[in-house]
Amino acid sequence: MAVTAAAISLLFYALLWKAGNLTDLPNLRVGFYNFCLWDQGTGSLRCRQFPELEALGVPRVGLALARLGAYGALVFTLFVPLPLFLAWCNSSDGEWRLAVGFLAMSSTLLAGGLGLFLTYTWKWVRLSLLEPGFLALGTAQALLVVLLMATILFPQRAEDKSKLDNY
Ligand SMILES: *[C@@H]1O[C@H](CO)[C@@H](O)[C@H](O)[C@H]1NC(C)=O
Repeated sequence: MAVTAAAISLLFYALLWKAGNLTDLPNLRVGFYNFCLWDQGTGSLRCRQFPELEALGVPRVGLALARLGAYGALVFTLFVPLPLFLAWCNSSDGEWRLAVGFLAMSSTLLAGGLGLFLTYTWKWVRLSLLEPGFLALGTAQALLVVLLMATILFPQRAEDKSKLDNY
């Protein structure tokens, strides 16, 4: 439960509170909804919009899919705590399967969204992967994978317990 709460908070922080801005440097503000690069000509930060972004190598469809992945992961993660809690209370197989399904969905979507975003923006962001937005999403991804593995191992414990109860 604590790990789920941590993953949800990290996703909220990066995707909503920071509005999807993954880097917040004076000379680079790149995120799911903003794309501001340093302009040497004017000596200031200039935000690019779509036709121009496509010319820079960021396809419209690709960015849309990356957003879908990251924000979809947030939505699926919100559905994890309830079935996880119910599975824990009732040792119920159906609830457990549901929790595993939501976890698998959210970790896959986040990996896909983040991976796609990094593919298109690698040449600008590779030096700023330690920015808070990237750290938050990376940590959330790791937590989701850990949680998925822990949840998959969980029914063994429930089974052992019911065996013990039977003897
Ligand atoms: C996100 O970045 C844009 C563009 O630099 C900026 O205008 C906006 O204030 C930022 N939002 C947050 C919440 O940091």
